[in-house]
Amino acid sequence: MDKYLVTSALPYANGKLHIGHVAGAYIPADIFVRYLKLKGEDVVYICGTDEHGAPISIRAEAEGKTPQEIVDYYHQSIKKSFDGISVEFDNFSGTARPKHHELSQQFFLELLNNGFINEHITQQLYCEHDKRFLPDRYVEGQCYHCGAEGARGDQCDACGKLIDATLLVKPQCKICGNTPIVKETKHWFLNLPKFADPLKAWLDTKESWKDNVLKFILSWIEDGLIERSITRDINWGVKIPVADTEGKVLYVWFDAPIGYISSSIEWAERIGQPDRWKDYWYDEKTKLVHFIGKDNIPFHAIIWPSILMGQKQKYILPHDIPANEYLTLEGDKISTSRNWAIWVEDFLRYFDGELLRYTLSANAPETKDADFSWKDFQTRVNSELANILGNLVNRVLSFSQKNYDGVIPFTSDLSDYSKQTIQEVREIAKEIDTEYREYKVRKASKLCMDIARIGNKYFDEMKPWACIKEDKEKTKETLFVCGEILKVISIVFAPIIPQGSAKIREMMSFAPAQNWDDIFTLNDSAIKINEVTTMYRKIEDAEIEAQINLLKEQAKANKADAVPQYEDKLEDIDFDDFMKLDLRIVKVLHAEKIKKSDKLLKLKVQCGNNEIQVLSGIAKYYEPEQLIGKDIVMLINLKPRKMMGEISEGMILSAHIGDDLRVLIPEKPIKNGAKIS
Ligand code: MF3
Ligand code: ZN
Repeated sequence: MDKYLVTSALPYANGKLHIGHVAGAYIPADIFVRYLKLKGEDVVYICGTDEHGAPISIRAEAEGKTPQEIVDYYHQSIKKSFDGISVEFDNFSGTARPKHHELSQQFFLELLNNGFINEHITQQLYCEHDKRFLPDRYVEGQCYHCGAEGARGDQCDACGKLIDATLLVKPQCKICGNTPIVKETKHWFLNLPKFADPLKAWLDTKESWKDNVLKFILSWIEDGLIERSITRDINWGVKIPVADTEGKVLYVWFDAPIGYISSSIEWAERIGQPDRWKDYWYDEKTKLVHFIGKDNIPFHAIIWPSILMGQKQKYILPHDIPANEYLTLEGDKISTSRNWAIWVEDFLRYFDGELLRYTLSANAPETKDADFSWKDFQTRVNSELANILGNLVNRVLSFSQKNYDGVIPFTSDLSDYSKQTIQEVREIAKEIDTEYREYKVRKASKLCMDIARIGNKYFDEMKPWACIKEDKEKTKETLFVCGEILKVISIVFAPIIPQGSAKIREMMSFAPAQNWDDIFTLNDSAIKINEVTTMYRKIEDAEIEAQINLLKEQAKANKADAVPQYEDKLEDIDFDDFMKLDLRIVKVLHAEKIKKSDKLLKLKVQCGNNEIQVLSGIAKYYEPEQLIGKDIVMLINLKPRKMMGEISEGMILSAHIGDDLRVLIPEKPIKNGAKIS
């Protein structure tokens, strides 16, 4: 028996789960764990929410909540989504919990005492407007490795490389949009160069790792490891266990992976065997397997093993890191900011979570990106789950029930064809065993469905509906073999569709699948059939169209507050067209609210020697007093219009985005009447 400790990347507690998350690090991991349990291996499956880091404090600030409130909310929301798709952890913790803080501090101190952490004065980006340092996701700019826009202060999504924020090209503060300055501050650095040799030696033993992981990491080490800062100038996180470190905390990527251990400890305490976690983490025979998305590779294959190697206590190192590629949606990159995503909780409102498990297994982003489309989802459910698997279950069970008094009959009188069929099914089951062991759920799921295909073919060829009219005794063979096939399916498919599998077994009055080896022992008596119900209902075209529309609507609604893209610019105009606009600086003499409208302000402005009246839809953003005396920008030759019974002789210029608006004001005072071009 092997011992496994399986983990899924701790999801950030700052947003809901979408199908891209679960396709990469969670469904494949849950399948692997269920498979191991069926094989009778000793396995613990650990996860929790990643509750620190800049995104959480940014979100809290934006929503006027405390980080803890954000974290609590999303911890629950994420947990619920996992429940809905039957992802079952042995423990699901959170890194804001006191035990995790303690443990992370202990890890830090040991590294410090063992000489693996250095203190340096460093240059950091600082926003003078917000009066704060801008670590990690507080800043964005152009990547100096690959040139991509939108690289964050810690990592570039385009090339996956880690970033030194001070080197970002055209950095911008994420809070206010200003250009930050560089300022000195003290930080603690993990001395990665000291780990280069042990890391290399360790990675040399990992030939079976996925190419995408191993190549990426080796080239990283080749490029030369540098010291990495593991502290940050923010308030939310694990306090640095060193004096005079107010306003600084441990870097989220330092403490988060330690969450795998703190969650294991929580598990051991919960099951009443507080030392049990050591049986895994301290025992080098344990296989530690980290399921992650590909953007997490450097943290799990370099930084995390270094943190572990730097401890006096010998911890196990990752045995394998099956990182998955990305899932795209309807051919387009999933984007939470553009709201181009299917949120698991939304999916569950319409469909069973198991359908998602099947679809994302059959089409898992294992070696390359994979695409989820609603049409493909419909085809998988209707043509595979319903028409192949559901159909086989239904025809075998209904036929037996009707003709053999509610049982699948027993016989030991099997033809060569029947024996071969059973043999063939067992061979495929063995292949599935290997595929699961190598995390290849895509192949495994296809092979499971192939067994159902074989069952249907066998049933068709044996024609029990015709045979029974002549020889009821002989027809038993068909049902017996099909019953055997259904039993095998209910075992091999259990990791992917646990509820479907349980349902088949319930109809056949079997206990839930518990033992993989049952595949290889023939049923030895008649099998009582319970009430036969439909396994999968077909999904109508209209339901799919509705989902596609919802997706588009949701992305469009989001566009209102998204930053307008350059690509969305209007048609080009001629210079002459522009010159037709008479834009001027005007001074606001008077401003007041309009009684009948909560949108409009009435302004009297001075333009040279003239006084003009203008109505402007800015009442939600400015109190009249805030504008009086200001020089602003106005289009003065717009044809006069009447609004709310008042005349308006122009238009005030403002910048607006989402729910926000600013009236334009010249950078230095200039005489009113000045022309703008
Ligand atoms: N929260 C990270 C993410 O979603 C993953 C953290 S994995 C852990 O990308 F190892 F740090 F836990
Ligand atoms: Zn890049």
